[in-house]
Amino acid sequence: MFNLSEKVAVVTGASRGIGKAMAETYARSGAHVVCVSRSEDALQSVADAINSDRGSASVYVCDVSDLGAFQDLIKNTADTYGSVDILVNNAGVTRDTLIMRMSEDDWNTVININLKGAFNGIKAVTRVMMKQRSGRIINISSVSGLMGNPGQANYSASKAGVIGLSKATAKELASRGITVNCIAPGYIATDMTNKMTDQAKDSIISQIPLGRMGSPEDIAAAALFLASNEAGYITGQTFTVDGGMVMI
Ligand SMILES: NC(=O)c1ccc[n+]([C@@H]2O[C@H](COP(=O)([O-])OP(=O)(O)OC[C@H]3O[C@@H](n4cnc5c(N)ncnc54)[C@H](OP(=O)(O)O)[C@@H]3O)[C@@H](O)[C@H]2O)c1
Repeated sequence: MFNLSEKVAVVTGASRGIGKAMAETYARSGAHVVCVSRSEDALQSVADAINSDRGSASVYVCDVSDLGAFQDLIKNTADTYGSVDILVNNAGVTRDTLIMRMSEDDWNTVININLKGAFNGIKAVTRVMMKQRSGRIINISSVSGLMGNPGQANYSASKAGVIGLSKATAKELASRGITVNCIAPGYIATDMTNKMTDQAKDSIISQIPLGRMGSPEDIAAAALFLASNEAGYITGQTFTVDGGMVMI
């Protein structure tokens, strides 16, 4: 439905889960997708599957918490493919525990990957997108960043921070034709949520009006719209894709 042909997209956290589904969806819509994470083998299988399905994908290994590495990734992408039209800051981790037990390392790891990682991506891509006078930046937040979640002080803070970061940069970059938006997924079936017990999953599903966990493809569909030309008049917004859990 939405056409991304001639577009170059960088998707972080593309080795599995939501990032993999977004990479596949973008590639099916015509974009060249640079699949990014820390695991080369897993990325290569995602890219191989896309390429054998008549899509176009490449692999770049990068830890998003390292600004210099992110800058090298963006430079390499712009030099190799001619532009960076879409950046999805999706890479994320959890280190869940109650605040009483949360170590400084639990805090720093989550903030450095989830929040500083998104800062690094925006900072690295801004110059390229400003020169192009166009671009789409999509940051993956969470319903935990909107409503807070016990046992996730670090994660909720990082995901609320991503929303503030997106609003500030949306205002800074709007005059250059660059949009910055967030998606706040609810409970999506990936490795991140597979760690939960069946009892915990059932309890969460009972709070979801649509009565099921989401799929990575549910998030990829929203990310496709936000990356498209048709979404050109939307910036600074957060789209909850959560089966109706959070209604504001
Ligand atoms: N699943 C949910 O219910 C849910 C809900 C709300 C929000 N989200 C958010 O959605 C995003 C994707 O989540 P998911 O469920 O797909 O998680 P996942 O299956 O655990 O995948 C996480 C991805 O992030 C990558 N990653 C982690 N740390 C990285 C780093 N330092 N540098 C580069 N890549 C890194 C991982 O790759 P490597 O380990 O190979 O580096 C992997 O590709 C995250 O931001 C998450 O917070 C998920």
